[in-house]
Amino acid sequence: MAITQDSTPPEDRHLIVVANRLPLEYVSDGGGGTWRRAPGGLVSALEPALAGRPATWIGWSGHAGDTTGPALPNDLDGLRIVGIPLNPDQAELFYEGFANGALWPLYHDVVVTPAFHRPEFVAYRDVNALFAAKVAELAPVGGTIWIHDYQLQLVPSMLRDLRPDLTIGFFLHIPFPPVELFAQLPWRRQLLEGLLGADLVGFQTKLGAHNFLAATRRILGLDPGGDRVDVPDEEGRRSVRVGAFPIGIDAESFSRLADEPAVRARAEQIRAEMGGFRLLFLGVDRLDYTKGIDVRLRAFSEALAEGILDASEVTMLQVAIPSRENVDQYQHIRDDIELLVGRINGDLGRVGDPAIHYLHQSVSREELVAMYVAADVLLVTPLKDGMNLVAKEYVAARTDDTGAVVLSEFTGAVEQLREAFVVNPYDIEGLKRTLAMVAGAAPEELARRMQVLRANVFEDDVDRWVRTFLATLEGSLP
Ligand code: ADP
Ligand code: F6P
Repeated sequence: MAITQDSTPPEDRHLIVVANRLPLEYVSDGGGGTWRRAPGGLVSALEPALAGRPATWIGWSGHAGDTTGPALPNDLDGLRIVGIPLNPDQAELFYEGFANGALWPLYHDVVVTPAFHRPEFVAYRDVNALFAAKVAELAPVGGTIWIHDYQLQLVPSMLRDLRPDLTIGFFLHIPFPPVELFAQLPWRRQLLEGLLGADLVGFQTKLGAHNFLAATRRILGLDPGGDRVDVPDEEGRRSVRVGAFPIGIDAESFSRLADEPAVRARAEQIRAEMGGFRLLFLGVDRLDYTKGIDVRLRAFSEALAEGILDASEVTMLQVAIPSRENVDQYQHIRDDIELLVGRINGDLGRVGDPAIHYLHQSVSREELVAMYVAADVLLVTPLKDGMNLVAKEYVAARTDDTGAVVLSEFTGAVEQLREAFVVNPYDIEGLKRTLAMVAGAAPEELARRMQVLRANVFEDDVDRWVRTFLATLEGSLP
């Protein structure tokens, strides 16, 4: 049933958000099955951004085929939820295959080799068509639609064909690669034309927007200028706006949670259980080969072995959230990381005192924030990352201005977090030097940096991101 468009101001109008992931994922536990918060930055950012506004979220549950137990809730705290069911073939070819075996590595600067398979692109196209058809069915006349991320790049043009009355925004949560890499993709024209079905195409960084515009020039022969590119259509030409809209977090809510007595107490307990070391280093990531988990483990363990860090003073906790476990590359990275942790602990640990504490599991929001509060240093060392919200969440949780962030220069977040200890994750010696520098830094220096980081994270928060994107989208119309 279509949603009725009302005559309220733009910010109060019903917004339709379309993303591969719903905010809830289905987990089959062998018994009845349950629904829990879906992992990843997209859900973390969008969920608070939509709180309190009239919105529908259209997406997939992350589970292929039938579910048992409770049905997908159709309302989440006032947010209308609409599921797009995928069968096991679609999940394998569209999600595991084309989205995560081809596009994910290609867009992350080919840190592993992308696999291009024709049947997978066909499935990608078909699933994108399913999403477009559902939006076309539900959207009110003249409604605003916000499509998200690399899994749905064909939806903007498919939707425009079905419903030219709609205002369509698209935001890419991951990097857009340089044209030299993007050009490898056999279906590069289709994806560019798909994206150009939107009125506004947003990226995390200026570089992403620049790379996209360069691709429209080189691959489609268009002539982008400034923040626009004109595309031919039946009525002559249509102008598509392109820009950088760095995503933020709900800083207030992380900060509030960090100050809750139960979270503080849990943070103390974590430190005590880990042996009461002077310095706790923390890593939190989806278990993904782009995150540079191996890089930081190597640097940390070499720094211990060489006495750059004092083993009696420091310890490390690495949380690796299970992710995309049916994809080959993700199985390999899990094996690699676990082998490395085992080796390091075998070489450097003592009974009851491992050098690295490793968890491969999903943790609750409260536990995650308690870890942020407990940790003296957060290590964020991706080889490439569209943004990295974990870095911003850690900063928001440091309500007393203590703590430090070691941050890869290849993250989008570095643009807003310049006062972090910025590292090149490919340079292990440089990373070791930075670890030593952080361990020896004066508390006043850390506090000075943290104050600037916090000001930026609170100013460029998720609310500002939504308002800026939607205002630009409305303003991009003729
Ligand atoms: P990515 O989007 O690549 O996963 P980000 O660092 O941008 O990387 O976002 C990861 C998000 O996942 C963060 O917002 C973090 O709070 C969230 N998260 C961490 N642990 C869990 C978990 N166990 N379940 C759900 N989300 C989690
Ligand atoms: O933020 C990047 C992203 O790929 C999102 O699109 C996605 O929802 C999230 O990471 C987690 O990945 P997945 O949905 O494949 O579990």
